[in-house]
Amino acid sequence: MTGCPASRLSKASQVFRIKQDPSIQIETAYEKISYIQCHRSDIQPYRHQPADIPFLFRWQKRTVQVDQNNLAIIASGNAELGKELAEEMECSGCHGDTGISEDGEFPNLAGQRPAYIVKQLHDYKSGARATDTMQDFTEELDMKKMADLAAFYAAQKPAEMAGDIAPKLAVETDKARFMIACDKCHGIKGIGRGFDAPRLAGQQLDYLQSTMEAFRDGERANDHYERMRFIAKTITKDEIKALVKYYAMKPEDDD
Ligand code: HEC
Ligand code: HEC
Repeated sequence: MTGCPASRLSKASQVFRIKQDPSIQIETAYEKISYIQCHRSDIQPYRHQPADIPFLFRWQKRTVQVDQNNLAIIASGNAELGKELAEEMECSGCHGDTGISEDGEFPNLAGQRPAYIVKQLHDYKSGARATDTMQDFTEELDMKKMADLAAFYAAQKPAEMAGDIAPKLAVETDKARFMIACDKCHGIKGIGRGFDAPRLAGQQLDYLQSTMEAFRDGERANDHYERMRFIAKTITKDEIKALVKYYAMKPEDDD
């Protein structure tokens, strides 16, 4: 039970008895994830959660409010309208016509989970995710437009993944460091999972590396419960490198 205050533990154990409940408090949810990270890294988080139905407490007020209204908007995203909007707003100039960009610093969006895309757009707009580039492009987007864009990119064919042999941490939980295997949240071979864990498979290598470093250094701070910041700080530089290489897009000139 290293490193975890007793108060956290007792609060957290109560949480396991709380069923999915719209009135659940954010603090309680935080205790749950802390508990998992501190004591039970063998537990798969959210395992009682059906794949695409979010717990209502998963996103805090600071970013998108996960209420029935916003969930319905995300679900109603129209890929045709999204395609038009992506052309009109010149998203394709950086992210590619079908969500596969030509420059490693611009993330691929093809096959990304729609709710994740909406959350990021919302976070850029609100400033919760700091950036020089994306804030300008999100200023005029409302939730419906975000959902349309997300539906379009989610429907595009993702890039192929480079790695074939998984680094240990991708698939195996490391109890000594309270590290949950990446794939437990991000899906088998990083294809994305649940409501908010993005696809990693086929992402741009440079972007994956820089966003992991941004989590590590706290420059990217829009991950709830500091999950990714905690992870990126805990693992080594070499582990980050190996994981990034594994999940990244297969280089085009590679046979
Ligand atoms: C000038 C280039 C540029 C344009 C145009 C652009 N983006 Fe981006 N986009 C970026 C960069 C760079 C990042 C990564 C920024 C960061 O590290 O936070 C990014 C990040 C994103 C992300 C987060 C991806 C992830 O995996 O977390 C989404 C979603 C996104 N852009 C959607 C859009 C949409 C939709 C448009 C059009 C409305 C758009 N972008 C226009 C450069 C651009
Ligand atoms: C407890 C669940 C969990 C675990 C374990 C986890 N992640 Fe994440 N990860 C998330 C969530 C949720 C997000 C989305 C954060 C946000 O909303 O911005 C994320 C985001 C990311 C991103 C940003 C993707 C993008 O397109 O910008 C990367 C990269 C990433 N994780 C890599 C990893 C790696 C590598 C591991 C294993 C060492 C890992 N994650 C383990 C939940 C997890």
